[in-house]
Amino acid sequence: MNNSKWEQYYQNISLDKIPWNKTQADYFIKIISESKIKPCLALDLGCGVGRKSIYLVKKGFDVTGVDISKTAIRFAEKNAEKAKVKVDFIVADVTDLSFLRGRKFDFVLDWANLHGIPKNKRERYVSEIIKHTKKGGKFLLRCFARDKAQKEFVIRRVGRVYVFSKEDIKSFFSSHFKFLEMNRSKPFGEGSPSKWFDEYLMERI
Ligand SMILES: C[S@@+](CC[C@H](N)C(=O)[O-])C[C@H]1O[C@@H](n2cnc3c(N)ncnc32)[C@H](O)[C@@H]1O
Repeated sequence: MNNSKWEQYYQNISLDKIPWNKTQADYFIKIISESKIKPCLALDLGCGVGRKSIYLVKKGFDVTGVDISKTAIRFAEKNAEKAKVKVDFIVADVTDLSFLRGRKFDFVLDWANLHGIPKNKRERYVSEIIKHTKKGGKFLLRCFARDKAQKEFVIRRVGRVYVFSKEDIKSFFSSHFKFLEMNRSKPFGEGSPSKWFDEYLMERI
């Protein structure tokens, strides 16, 4: 998925038709409302139109939100203005966070971004997440789940989307993160494993 495809996607869809503006984020809300992650310096990777960033600021977090689509960030800024909160929204590619100049965060959020990152950029992205999470900091990830028989990607409106087993996710992150919790949500119906999500709460070691 490249920048222009995401740009096109956001330019050609109305806000109420964007699926991730409607899908539930129960696990995210639960983690925050149970204070498993307390207000701190947070980085929202692939923030889209800013729903999670804005939610976090309202809960007392200091948030930087990054998205590759200018249009998504413009929507996010308008949403923050409407909500009367201040979020540092930045247009950038999360596979190159050099603009952060090594800044580290207490909480890094990837809510449905990793699975859209092209395979040849995945390693770079994972290393950026590792680099920018403080030791003892939390990383919360939501990605499409993969069951054994499935192939490694599915095709969606936004193009190729990868699906990951728990073993896949462990192989990416376990050298630098301790796995604290895992949750599976089935927002699109019981009968369709390729539309289930797995959510992981990790701590940087
Ligand atoms: C499925 S949406 C999730 C949006 C948001 N996290 C939410 O839950 O509402 C994935 C987002 O990641 C962004 N994205 C995809 N590839 C990216 C990249 N390489 N760098 C930054 N953002 C990217 C897309 O523009 C899109 O807004």
